[in-house]
Amino acid sequence: MKAFSTIKELKAEIGRFKTLNKSIGFVPTMGALHKGHVSLVEKAKAETDILVVSIFVNPAQFNDKSDLLKYPRTPEKDLQMLQAAGVDFVFMPDASEIYPKGEAEEKFDFGNLEKVMEGAHRAGHFQGVARVVAKLFRIVTPSRAYFGEKDFQQLAIIKMLAENFFPEIEIMPCHTVREEDGLAMSSRNILLSSQTRSEAALISKTLFQVKDSNNSLSVAELKQLVEEKINSSRFLKLEYFEIADENTLRPVSEFSNSKETRAFIAVKAGAIRLIDNISLNS
Ligand code: PAJ
Repeated sequence: MKAFSTIKELKAEIGRFKTLNKSIGFVPTMGALHKGHVSLVEKAKAETDILVVSIFVNPAQFNDKSDLLKYPRTPEKDLQMLQAAGVDFVFMPDASEIYPKGEAEEKFDFGNLEKVMEGAHRAGHFQGVARVVAKLFRIVTPSRAYFGEKDFQQLAIIKMLAENFFPEIEIMPCHTVREEDGLAMSSRNILLSSQTRSEAALISKTLFQVKDSNNSLSVAELKQLVEEKINSSRFLKLEYFEIADENTLRPVSEFSNSKETRAFIAVKAGAIRLIDNISLNS
């Protein structure tokens, strides 16, 4: 495994394999890696010839500066995990490498996809995600790029970004990996106090209950149930719960089996913001 911090060196190395017609797999991350990230890496490893992983805590996507400052960073452990998973190249640039001073900010239009849920609660977040992912796509020029359904709205934004600007890149969705008690794995989980961590299992438990009850309860009743359950814990506070069409992310007011529908949740667990989602079909 080779690690790079400059665009020039990484591009030169990737270029050598491109001329040999090798397929390039790419997994962008912000580090503090866990088994969720590793599942993406393993899928990419099995499906492509050369595997590139980036680790970059992207300042442009943090609307809350204290969230950026406290974002966990574990570079040594990350490198060990990536080496063990058989990654070929790791890209770990500094912010100045990705965002040179004076460069104009690229803007994107994702319509409704960036206006709802995370988009509504985190101003500028998806512009920042798209900005860095577009840059990384141009640097890595992958054949396939892997993204987790854990961040389902981000996945939808990336699919649109690829359709509009990178039609040659195949976006590969990957299932959410969970802890034993159901909590979706996240780099932010290590920031939870032990009490809040055990209460946080209520988030996924509530989503599983929604999935089990969606034939017997209306959308309005489900929303009320979720609010009551989450806010019954003094360590958790519901930020939003939505049931939406998977493709448009527009809220649905009634279930229909012909539509792919998903439940989305954001919760403040102590000072830490956690998100999760679940398919309500099948
Ligand atoms: P990060 O939160 O590090 O996540 C990197 C990738 O891992 C994303 O595609 C995310 O959806 C996926 N992932 C995280 N937790 C997961 C889990 N429990 N199961 C499955 N996949 C999971 O998402 C980002 O970084 C950034 O926004 C990024 C795309 C790298 C742009 O900066």
